[in-house]
Amino acid sequence: MPQGGVLPANALLCDAWQTLATAVETFYARTGTLNAVTTDTKAAGARGPLPRFKAIAAIDAGRGLGKNGDMPWHIPADLKHFARTTTETRKEGMQNAVLMGRLTAETIPEKYWPLKGRRNAVVTRNPNWTIEGAYVYTDIADALTSLAAETETLYVVGGGQIYALALAMQACEELILTRIHKTYDCDAFFPEFETSFEMAEELARGEHKGVAFTMERWRRKPGA
Ligand SMILES: NC(=O)c1ccc[n+]([C@@H]2O[C@H](COP(=O)([O-])OP(=O)(O)OC[C@H]3O[C@@H](n4cnc5c(N)ncnc54)[C@H](OP(=O)(O)O)[C@@H]3O)[C@@H](O)[C@H]2O)c1
Repeated sequence: MPQGGVLPANALLCDAWQTLATAVETFYARTGTLNAVTTDTKAAGARGPLPRFKAIAAIDAGRGLGKNGDMPWHIPADLKHFARTTTETRKEGMQNAVLMGRLTAETIPEKYWPLKGRRNAVVTRNPNWTIEGAYVYTDIADALTSLAAETETLYVVGGGQIYALALAMQACEELILTRIHKTYDCDAFFPEFETSFEMAEELARGEHKGVAFTMERWRRKPGA
């Protein structure tokens, strides 16, 4: 503003809009995901826009995820990173949700099921399938919409089929990837992601029994 001057009304209005826009952006940046919505109208159908969510995965050098319902590697630091990332919340009393495919749910040993401190949810096409300790949905968009209401951050946690569905949705705004710098024999794969996502930051790096890995955060490219 010019010193001692008075801004015309339209300039003041413009200023107010700018402030409001910045506040909204900051809010979404801070609160992360939920209640922020996108226009995934195709996926959402008549439900309206989908809530924003993240996907978290550990992938090998060929984007491999697993073999015979298991992960071919055992990296304790990655398991801790997964548990911490998906459990920690900014607001006390809130919980995050972990959404997975039926096959992934069935790979989790009974002693760890349901994943503690998180709202567990599973998608299946079978309307009669149930599992103790988790919400069950027959449609991923329904799952995302229903879980968003009381969840701080919503994480899609696999496996290959569900990541493919999730990454095709614009509402999937961020990927938390542990990239293992070795190729294993896998039969489930993470979808191609470099076209629609860009690396935002390296979170950590390490090595376990001679195998190097990096933990990275990728964000959706503008307009992708
Ligand atoms: N490395 C990692 O970070 C990571 C993470 C998770 C899992 N994994 C690995 O990934 C593998 C499992 O992945 P996967 O691709 O085979 O299976 P998945 O994605 O875990 O689950 C597939 C199941 O999800 C349901 N489903 C698929 N599309 C659906 C849709 N459009 N609507 C409703 N339900 C749908 C179907 O269940 P129904 O057959 O019941 O209809 C389908 O059989 C395992 O090897 C696991 O260890 C790795």
